Amino acid sequence: MDIQELKNKAKEALKTASNLEELQSAYKAYLGKKGEVTLILRSLAELKPALRKTKGKEANELRDFFKDAFKQRSKELRRLQSQKQKNRERIDVTAPGKRLQEGHLHPLTQVQRKAQEIFQAMGFVVVQGPEIETEWYNFDALNIPADHPARDMWNTFWLKQPENSKFEIRNSKFLLRTHTSPVQARYMETHQPPLRIVVPGRVFRYEAIDAHHLFNFYQLEGLMVGKNISVGNFKAVIQEFYRQFFEKPVSIRLRPSYFPFTEPSFEIDMRFGKSDWLEMMGAGMVHPNVFKTAGYIPRQWTGFAFGMGLDRLCMMKYKIPDIRLLYSGDLKFLQQF
Ligand code: FA5
Repeated sequence: MDIQELKNKAKEALKTASNLEELQSAYKAYLGKKGEVTLILRSLAELKPALRKTKGKEANELRDFFKDAFKQRSKELRRLQSQKQKNRERIDVTAPGKRLQEGHLHPLTQVQRKAQEIFQAMGFVVVQGPEIETEWYNFDALNIPADHPARDMWNTFWLKQPENSKFEIRNSKFLLRTHTSPVQARYMETHQPPLRIVVPGRVFRYEAIDAHHLFNFYQLEGLMVGKNISVGNFKAVIQEFYRQFFEKPVSIRLRPSYFPFTEPSFEIDMRFGKSDWLEMMGAGMVHPNVFKTAGYIPRQWTGFAFGMGLDRLCMMKYKIPDIRLLYSGDLKFLQQF
């Protein structure tokens, strides 16, 4: 090939190489072991001396030219490449931050905390009790002796009794608590009135599941004991609680009911404006036998107690049609709260 033509071709190849790899292969194509310029340089030996001199000069010039041009282009490409990288890595301190996907509290936890806060503001102390309970606290201490038909009100998960268990208390069997009421008995055993407590917690019942029932759900127990505590006090506390919880006026009504640990006992219904009455919780005035077991002198003290289902409260607040949604772990559901 004509040297001039080869020079133009080589120039072009260097110019069109758009990165260092391409440039490297262009170098190989011309100045590599089998590169076109190298081959010319090698073929000089076969030429006649006169021709070798002129051709040799031209070929050497071409090689030097090519080496220079290669160096230049490679500098240029390196500079471009590092510029590109700098642009990529530049931190724009004024760019708005990417929003992190945050989790949040489960709606049941939110409801529990809100309920606690309202009662705390009214002077109630939050107390916890064990989920594995003894027959004594779950039943006997609440005026429900063995063989009392009222035990059937709570379908119970009984636990296997360890042989000669050193944890056995008052000869009573272990169970999963069926309500938060045993914490009333536990607390009164170690505290003197006047007192005001609320007890949030998980409870268990051997029950069939449907849209309003689970075998595992949450309750909030309340207990207030003092001098001359009346049903009127109870009504006022509960009405105020619902008003603050639902952030609108509510009406409540008390319907006679039966619980062995309260006398009288009632069921509390609630409604907004003229809507249908909704059953919200069980409650009543603490039974004298419960005071006696706790070591209080019944004539000196009166008190009210209540137990509300937190799941049902949550369902009402957010208009959730099925209690099972609360335990589904379904993110599409949970992200709405
Ligand atoms: C009790 O558990 C009593 N300990 C309440 C009480 C406390 C009465 C203190 C008097 C004094 P009851 O079984 O009705 O009562 O349950 C109370 C609330 O728990 C119900 O009103 C309901 O809101 C909720 N609840 C009951 N069973 C279920 C269930 N299977 N699934 C979801 N919530 C339930």
